[in-house]
Order: sequence, then structure tokens, then C-alpha cells
Amino acid sequence: MGSFIFVNLDDNAGPLTEYLGPLAKGIEGYPFHEMTEVYTYRAEIGSNWKLFIDAFAEFYHAPVLHQGQYTKEEAAKIQKYGFEALHYELVGPHSVISTWGGQAPPADLNMVKPMDRVLRSGLFGPWDKPDIDGLDALPPGVNPARAPQWGIDSFVFFPNFMLLLWEPGWYLTYHYWPTAVDKHIFETTLYFVPPRNARERLAQELAAVTFKEYALQDANTLEATQTMLGTRVVNDFLLCDQEILLRHLHKTARDYVSDYQKTKEHANGATR
Ligand SMILES: [Fe+2]
Repeated sequence: MGSFIFVNLDDNAGPLTEYLGPLAKGIEGYPFHEMTEVYTYRAEIGSNWKLFIDAFAEFYHAPVLHQGQYTKEEAAKIQKYGFEALHYELVGPHSVISTWGGQAPPADLNMVKPMDRVLRSGLFGPWDKPDIDGLDALPPGVNPARAPQWGIDSFVFFPNFMLLLWEPGWYLTYHYWPTAVDKHIFETTLYFVPPRNARERLAQELAAVTFKEYALQDANTLEATQTMLGTRVVNDFLLCDQEILLRHLHKTARDYVSDYQKTKEHANGATR
């Protein structure tokens, strides 16, 4: 798909495009191949892999958790408003949420920090959109709501691949590799067009380090949550309507496990 290579060790795996379905079909034509400047991070996380997807698969936490991206006055203003994404969609085991932008560049330069102003960059990426084909007429699955305020599409391709397309013309991926019930390896990769000069390079570096800071904020609670889950004192969690991608992820994972268990029971029954 696009410029990605998928490897499936299952001899009986079906065709990739069929598995990825309409969400992947809808982003065909996005200029992934132009974005070859890469920054990667990798971390061992002391939590179940699904907890990290939970932390990334909704956006309404952003104005509260990531308020450091704004000046103090702007953060206070934003917190007074509620949040609703532009588009939510579940297709097969996969899903997408589309959310607001408007920060690259910001409507008011006083909204952001001096470093962002100097380097014309920040959490939403470099402010100057790359001059490449394919970003003006986006494929139908990108900004599916066709909202002028669009900022990010965040796709969850079950089980462990996330793809985020950013309005300023770059993208990133997340991979989650479970190593135990309460551990996983997290990898993230940011992709930009090759910078043409030092200023563009610095703008990309600022976006990459700012991203890392916010990923750390997202990850901050994971090991504490895992420890709490491990006690089994609390068994039920309320999820709100805006967490529909999380509900879908957990439902899909549970269905996969129960299908596997049924197959196994069936196999055991047949051998008795
Ligand atoms: Fe976040």
C-alpha cells in the first residue's frame, strides 16, 4: 500500500488490500513516496500494547494534556471549549478519526512559542507546505469530512499499525510490538520531504523533537495504568462516545481472542 511494505508470516493470509479495506483504498494517491526524510523513535514500554493505542486513538485529551504547546493565555482559552472531532469511522477491524488543525501557521502568532515563530514549525509540523504534487487535490479518504479546519487524520489499522496524515504535508506511523501481556516495543517514524536548506531542516527537527515531547506526555500514564490494571481491583472502565475508536479496538481484539479460543477448543475436541 502506498510506499509501505507489509510482511505477513501467516501462510494462509488473504490479500493485503482486501484486509486493509476501504480506509486504505481511500488514501491511495497520497504522495507518501515524496516524504523520504525520516526521524524515528523506539521505546520499551511497561504496558499492554492496547493501552498505548488508547492514548493515541482519540484527540479530546489534547487541549488538556498538551496545553504546553500553547502560551498560557491560549491554553486557558482553549480549555473553556469542549471538543468534538470532524469525522469518526469504523470499517471492519480498522478505524479513523479526523481532527482540527489551524496551527501551522497559527491564526495569531502570539498563540505559539518564540521558538516556533523563529523556525516556522511546531507540533503540527513545518508551517510551509512542501511544493509537491498530490497535496492540493487530496484523495477522498484524506480529510474525509472535507473540513476547511482539518488538521490530522489518524488511522488505526488493526492490529498494530497507526498512520497519521497531517495537513501541513507530512505524516507519521506508529507500530506496537507486544513482548508480554504488560510490555511492548513502541516505534514511531516521522516522514517529511527532503529539506532544501538549513532553515527547512531546522523546522523539521523542531517538529520531530516537539512530537517526541508530546508522545512522552501521552505515554506518561501508561505504566501507572498497567500497574493499576494488574491489581485487578478495577475491572470496568467507562468510555465516552468520543472514544469510539478505543471501544472498537478492544471489541475487535476480544473477538479475535475468542475466535482463536473457539478454534482451539474445536481442535482439542476433534483430537479427543
Ligand atoms: Fe496526545
